[in-house]
Amino acid sequence: MSNSNNFFNGSLSEDWWKSAVFYQIYPRSFCDSNNDGIGDLRGVINKLDHLNDGNGGGLGIDAIWLSPFFPSPQADFGYDVSDYCDIDSDYGTLDDFDKLVFEAHKRKIRVVLDLVLNHSSDQHDWFKESRVDRTNSKADWYVWANPKPNGEPPNNWLAVFGGAAWTYEPLREQYYLHNFLAEQPDLNWYNSEVREALAEVVRFWMNRGVDGFRLDTANYYAYDRQLRDNPKRPAGSHPLEDGQEANPLSGYITKYSKDRPENIEFIHFLRKIFDEKENFTSIGEIGSSEGLEETLKLGADYVRHGDGLHMAYTFAMLSKEMNAEYFGHVVGFTEQMIEDGWPCWSLSNHDCTRMVTRFNCFAEREGFQQMMLLLLLSLRGTPIIYYGEEVDMEEYPITKEELRDPQGIRFWPDIKGRDGCRLPFPWDSAAPNQGFNTGKKPWLPAKNSLSLDQAQAYPESSYHVIKEMLKIRKTNPALQKGKFRQILLEGDCFVFERKTKDQTLLIAANFSTENHSIKLPLKVEENLTPQALKHSGSIKNERLSLPACGYFLGKV
Ligand code: GLC
Ligand code: CA
Repeated sequence: MSNSNNFFNGSLSEDWWKSAVFYQIYPRSFCDSNNDGIGDLRGVINKLDHLNDGNGGGLGIDAIWLSPFFPSPQADFGYDVSDYCDIDSDYGTLDDFDKLVFEAHKRKIRVVLDLVLNHSSDQHDWFKESRVDRTNSKADWYVWANPKPNGEPPNNWLAVFGGAAWTYEPLREQYYLHNFLAEQPDLNWYNSEVREALAEVVRFWMNRGVDGFRLDTANYYAYDRQLRDNPKRPAGSHPLEDGQEANPLSGYITKYSKDRPENIEFIHFLRKIFDEKENFTSIGEIGSSEGLEETLKLGADYVRHGDGLHMAYTFAMLSKEMNAEYFGHVVGFTEQMIEDGWPCWSLSNHDCTRMVTRFNCFAEREGFQQMMLLLLLSLRGTPIIYYGEEVDMEEYPITKEELRDPQGIRFWPDIKGRDGCRLPFPWDSAAPNQGFNTGKKPWLPAKNSLSLDQAQAYPESSYHVIKEMLKIRKTNPALQKGKFRQILLEGDCFVFERKTKDQTLLIAANFSTENHSIKLPLKVEENLTPQALKHSGSIKNERLSLPACGYFLGKV
């Protein structure tokens, strides 16, 4: 059952991932099949038809990527892995996993897993051994360094989740590096045994039928081997803000603790292993905290020349800022930098404020959300939809009692953490816990204002808009593979073209809350805008009229 990857043979091309629409599932919050309050793999299987039933029903998603479900003490909800080759009992068993791959492939949904290779859990056997003394077989598998003569940590590096990036281990009389929690020690990628062990992890899941990986914090693997201090950021310079509050690192330029130029060699190493399997793909998370253009450039560096990652996404579109100029800049600069690489876009994920809450979209919340989703599905590059965007999931204002995320616990109330974007999926407005399970209190409250049954019953919902747009994408090749060209930027409206040899499409969006009328330099022959969209543009006498938060798609 596990080797079900042959379903696709003949039907999909080598670069299937360029035309695929991805959907990110946070398994803990998707569907709880055994009513213990925690979402699980069987829950995901039960809900696959919602994504794509293989017969034209469901949203029409082509691939899922799942946040980690490997054995973990859950200090960072699975991003602290204590065994890379098994399933945490919270989420199910390896048999459940094989069934998930089988059922997904049956529906022509590809399966991508989240690999956390920068760090393991401190409960991983490798670290348990490594920390005991300086001579054991895993002694060099993590990043160990001597204290300064005064006993302080080896340098000034800070952890993303607060405090120093170093924790002292009395057994070794040394510090170990952790860019995130102390429970997430960084692996030493400079050690070839570590790289080989991680390669075996990659092969383990490849052989189980997986179609690709999302690589967690893929720009953190290398660190400065001289352990030089990170320089202080000059006052008044503003690093890129992600969808969450500024993190404590933003006072420093983190050039020695991450984003190392030599990191790309480790990526090349991984790519060679990915290439052992046909039609395999990878998506790197490149979360640089430097300026916008530096970030986009870094993201592009990871995907050029066919020897790096297949795709990478930065935090540029996960920012709080969103308007036509910003959007146009991010897209245009990416296009300029990426050369032979392939872009990848996501507007939300499990680390940042839900899009409908994050962007300042005034009185037009649903309109803005739908316009952004349609833009996401119109760009050149692979789009990733975050679970719940089809029901306009909004950020939940978590209370101190409800907090689960270590980041929120550490920094409350300055940073409230990421729980608010990880709520249970609302399947059914009439069922207990909105249909997430059958009544046991979920790990986070089930409290979205809209549920899937309601979204399905309402013809102009984001659910119907996405579903229709995914059909339009399938029948209009320029939306998948067409070249991008900016046409105009005017009055907070952005107009661009997607063009193949045989087809030219025009896409326009109005980011403002006022109506706009635009004189188009191209003649539109046919309106292809999804009919479910309320805020849709229309053409009259060579002018495009775009309502507030409106979107338009036309054939030229
Ligand atoms: C990535 C993950 C995030 C996690 C962190 C540490 O940024 O997306 O959820 O906390 O890495 O693994
Ligand atoms: Ca469960």
